[in-house]
Amino acid sequence: IRSIIIAIDGHSSCGKSTVARDLAKMLNIAYIDTGAMYRAVTLFALRQNMIVDGKINEEQLRNNLENIVIDFRLNPDKKLNETYLNGENVEEKIRSLEVSNNVSPISALGFVRKHLVALQRRMGEKGGVVLDGRDIGTVVFPNADLKIFMTASPEIRAKRRYDEMVAKGLTPKFEEILENIKERDKIDSTRSESPLKQADDALVLDNSHMTRREQLEWILNKINDID
Ligand code: C5P
Repeated sequence: IRSIIIAIDGHSSCGKSTVARDLAKMLNIAYIDTGAMYRAVTLFALRQNMIVDGKINEEQLRNNLENIVIDFRLNPDKKLNETYLNGENVEEKIRSLEVSNNVSPISALGFVRKHLVALQRRMGEKGGVVLDGRDIGTVVFPNADLKIFMTASPEIRAKRRYDEMVAKGLTPKFEEILENIKERDKIDSTRSESPLKQADDALVLDNSHMTRREQLEWILNKINDID
């Protein structure tokens, strides 16, 4: 377990990060949220006006990649890792609809991916880690010990995200969330740079009708099978 690498890929908003966090806690290993890294780059680009009406100033972003420092730090109260961008806690800000709406085009850029994949490999190479994203089992760690491909129907995913936002006191529009999820799936699966696709040796976990606990147990069973 101490050197295990677990790769969790799959569609947007299907609970990858929830199950990855649960696993990390259960196994006492690290969790790397690679989506948060693409979101942090997107937040940076939005703040610097490098994205205007969905149009990205690629050259400006490319020239600024070295000025984007991303790391994860433990929040001792929540016992969770949170995302930091240039020393600022951006864990909440990277989840906004504005970032969600712009992250897929940013993550389709080859130079952004190259930069973040290198960083993810450095963070995870020693093992004892679970990563979630779109290309972990196919590109970042093709030799991962366990690869999971997670999915659920778009409507179920949108409903979960909707409920989550309502619980936070927000007033989301279901249709908007559903649209965003479908749009991200489409961009992520059809981009030329590392498109989202199931690795040949990944195990499919469709959690449409599974509880959080059932998902965790499902994966723990697969880990037992490795040994
Ligand atoms: O996982 P999350 O939904 O937070 O990821 C946000 C976006 O980042 C995805 O829609 C996808 O475009 C991109 N992403 C990616 N490769 C990863 C992780 C995320 O392209 N490994």
